[in-house]
Amino acid sequence: MNGVSTVTWQRFQQERLAFPELGLAVDFSRVPWPESFFAKTRRSLERAFDEMARLERGERVNTTEHRRVGHYWLRTPELLAGAADPELRAFAMEIPATVARVKAFAARVHRGELCGQGGRFEHLLVIGIGGSALGPQLAARALGQPDRDRLRPWFFDNTDPDGMDLTLAALAATTPERTLEAALGRTLCLVISKSGGTPETANGMIEAARAYERAGLRFEAHAVAVTLPGSQLHRRATDPARPWLDTFPMWDWVGGRTSETSAVGLLPAALQGLDIDGLLAGARACDAVTRVPDAARNPAARLALAWLFLTEGRGARDMVVLPYKDRLELFARYLQQLVMESLGKEFNRAGDLVNQGLTVYGNKGSTDQHAYVQQLREGVPNFFVTFLEVLRDHAPGRPPVEVEPGITSGDYLAGFLLGTRQALWENGRPSITLTLDELNAHRLGVLIALFERAVGLYAGLVNINAYDQPGVEAGKKAAARILRLQRRLVEHVRRPGACPPPGLTAEQLAAALSPDEDGRPVDPETVFKICEHLAANPGRGVVRTGGSTPADTTYGPG
Ligand code: PA5
Repeated sequence: MNGVSTVTWQRFQQERLAFPELGLAVDFSRVPWPESFFAKTRRSLERAFDEMARLERGERVNTTEHRRVGHYWLRTPELLAGAADPELRAFAMEIPATVARVKAFAARVHRGELCGQGGRFEHLLVIGIGGSALGPQLAARALGQPDRDRLRPWFFDNTDPDGMDLTLAALAATTPERTLEAALGRTLCLVISKSGGTPETANGMIEAARAYERAGLRFEAHAVAVTLPGSQLHRRATDPARPWLDTFPMWDWVGGRTSETSAVGLLPAALQGLDIDGLLAGARACDAVTRVPDAARNPAARLALAWLFLTEGRGARDMVVLPYKDRLELFARYLQQLVMESLGKEFNRAGDLVNQGLTVYGNKGSTDQHAYVQQLREGVPNFFVTFLEVLRDHAPGRPPVEVEPGITSGDYLAGFLLGTRQALWENGRPSITLTLDELNAHRLGVLIALFERAVGLYAGLVNINAYDQPGVEAGKKAAARILRLQRRLVEHVRRPGACPPPGLTAEQLAAALSPDEDGRPVDPETVFKICEHLAANPGRGVVRTGGSTPADTTYGPG
């Protein structure tokens, strides 16, 4: 794409779609597509629109998991009122009823009717991962107002014990008493997991429960869950012997990465005091626009087509996401999951090997201009940029600060975006620019819905299932096998006489543990890695007893 021409005023106007009701404009003037591209892709786009219509009608378009895909119903439950299946039709009532329950629960917390053992709830510890954390984290950062939030949000989004300790220490540091006991007594703990069995989340919950117990508090008196009715987490939260404060449903037809407008996103947002009606209204309004089966008027379809053109429909270019707004710094991470988990697929719907995907990375402008934009401008041209600008610099009422005569910091931010976009384009680097008039809950709903639809339509264009995640499952299963091997290994090392001094090497241990549960020889490298980790953590039952290379290092009990 080298040597692209100057963008004329006329081209800019032709390629810019504006939606005043959404506060959104999308500019494709720096996508050098020829007019013939639209004729060429008409058929595939029709197929994508058709799949979308079937999805919204309740057809099980997630064919590998035989599931419906219903995130659009979450903000327009009326779509289900005419469904033939009574079970589906019931959700037309259950969705708004759940939103009402979310609001009522948050209101009781805010009014102090639901309190922790240490008093009114002031903090919210959210435990979840992937789709069960990224949306809540994005909304908390994009819309939060630390001096005014009703509850202050904190997150456990990993199984890293040090990360959890850091979060708890930071939480404790915010209380006047500066103790974890005092902080947790006023902290509501929200555990989010659709399956209810995700190890990282389960571990986070166990670690949190321990921390409450150590503080002399009953975890269940501070806990609430969002999960699939009937899941392991649901059973725990509704155990009559130790019931939690409440549970909220995450239905089977809501995918983690498209769950921000379900209880997954709405409950933490409402507890924080964010405008969830605005979020839902923005998503709903955007859905109305992006449902229109006409690429000339539909920004999501246009985005999907641009991705198709720019990546040659096979991930040939990465998408760099650059919001020039600190509040949106998690947007690239959020999109990374939405796009890459949805589009990164080995096979298409016909069963052909396609290894599809669209790589997404980014952080925020102008900060990233001092990181990797040098390579974007002059290095390998394997990307396109999605710029995101927000016209309103800050909340009204803040007096403008001039950093130079007539120029504010916000002017600099806007100038850097325009300058970077131009510099990239001059060097043949394409980009798309999204403009929001301001950032609020409504506009965040618009953004979320826009990309959800674009991802779905793009999947239709390249004929893949955007709604399953077999690769994630594969990693989870492999990790579980390794942990089972670790258990056997520790048992073996501890067995009296099994590892006489100076201990056994990884190879000897692997031989002793073979065959594995699948009847195959145990891999010495895996044994080495497990032993090194255990030996680095005192009290785990394995000590390093000598050696300087992986082959001659020995391990014994300790
Ligand atoms: O988008 C997805 O489906 C995943 O990222 C899940 O959200 C993630 O694996 C967490 O799953 P769960 O909500 O079942 O704990």
